[in-house]
Amino acid sequence: MIELLTETAIQEPQRIRGLEMPWNRVMGSPETPARAARALGPWHPQEFMAECVETVPEAGAMMTFVFRRCDGAPLAFRAGQYVNVAFPVNGEDQEPVDRSYSLSSSPTQPWTFSITVKCDPTGLVSPWVHENVRPGTILEMLGPVGAFHLPDADRRARYLLLAAGAGITPVMSMVRTIHSLPGHADVVVLYHGSDAGGFAFHRELAYIASVDSRFKVHYSLGDRSVPERWEGLRGRLTAAMLEEVAPDANGRQVYACGPEGYLNTATELLQKVGVDDTSIYMEFFSGDRQTLLEYQAEVALATDIAEEIAEEIADSAEDYFEGQPAAFGLYEPGYDADGTLEASGLPLEISDPEAPGSDPAVDSPGMEPEAGSPDASSFDTVGTGSLTMSFMRTGINVRIDPTEHILEVAQRAGVRIGANCKEGMCGSCKVVKLSGEVEMNHQGGIRAREISAGKFLPCCSTAQTDLVIDA
Ligand code: FES
Repeated sequence: MIELLTETAIQEPQRIRGLEMPWNRVMGSPETPARAARALGPWHPQEFMAECVETVPEAGAMMTFVFRRCDGAPLAFRAGQYVNVAFPVNGEDQEPVDRSYSLSSSPTQPWTFSITVKCDPTGLVSPWVHENVRPGTILEMLGPVGAFHLPDADRRARYLLLAAGAGITPVMSMVRTIHSLPGHADVVVLYHGSDAGGFAFHRELAYIASVDSRFKVHYSLGDRSVPERWEGLRGRLTAAMLEEVAPDANGRQVYACGPEGYLNTATELLQKVGVDDTSIYMEFFSGDRQTLLEYQAEVALATDIAEEIAEEIADSAEDYFEGQPAAFGLYEPGYDADGTLEASGLPLEISDPEAPGSDPAVDSPGMEPEAGSPDASSFDTVGTGSLTMSFMRTGINVRIDPTEHILEVAQRAGVRIGANCKEGMCGSCKVVKLSGEVEMNHQGGIRAREISAGKFLPCCSTAQTDLVIDA
């Protein structure tokens, strides 16, 4: 008979110092920039098709959808990032509806990846996703995107992870990632929910906390529905609660994700308990400016390195894949003379392909204003600035300067354009440009084919010439 070991008989594992992501060594290798660039390449938002291979119901009206890329490639991302998914909510022959969802799986298992979607019965997309996405469903995705993620290497690796409701999704990816890696870490998770039965992933979190001494997980219930036998914390986030779960909060990197009100409260309280601004990372969709700028710089650097040696990669990829049996038909990266398509498919700055001064009605078949459409010269003109934007549906001309962001100026003039993140990430402000040139500095919220179809994101674009816009 096997004698079970008692807990006290198990020694703590011997670990390396700090936490280091598996790709970190390759990225930091100065003498082999080609390898570094290959490792960085996947961080670029890429467009790819993915097949759902599993659905896992979770507590709290959430459902995890596990995917694998149709091209057989792994999905390289950082724990905390998200993907933008096109859902054919209105039918396969209609324009899909884009939504961004955090990845809940760990990048250390990149051959499949998961998003976890909370069903909001009043929403357009999430009920459709819960009803229709099944193993075998193929969806178009763009990603990974997002500056809210664990560092690639951290000698101290002391974290306080705050999550409320569906905000647990990127936090779960972080927890799974740290749990799957060796290295010293000290992780406190504080998870707020409104219903005792609604904490998604609670079984897995309990398991991880029971087998991995680096984790401590705390739950707190809102005041309204605390059952008698509830053993967790009670009430909303307070400074006292933070002190209770992490008396050393000011020595930790804090990652917080949840509704905006929760994040605002968290920001105030963290400052109150002495956590430095530079140690706080929040998943605001509008983006923490600082981390966003850092991310932009990081992507720009990756672009530079990738471009420098793109040809080399293309050549070696070509040699390699030419040597593979064609019947595999698995990972066939798109590449051409200019390098990998992944590396070149989503430039940060995209200019309109139309030649300056060309007539879009001639150059862009399918985008010409319909016969009998209004004449912009009869519209009222508002605002000041050296260029004119004509909004054909609204029936207004708006003056703008080349330094101003189009969305802001248009909204001020009363043009109705939906917008969420205002940072070029979510895609919700997408509109069609009928003529003129913009300079767009997006963060993955638009696909290359949409740009070729004349669409752009006014939140992160400036006008380079007069514009005619279908809005
Ligand atoms: S508002 Fe999100 S991309 Fe423009």
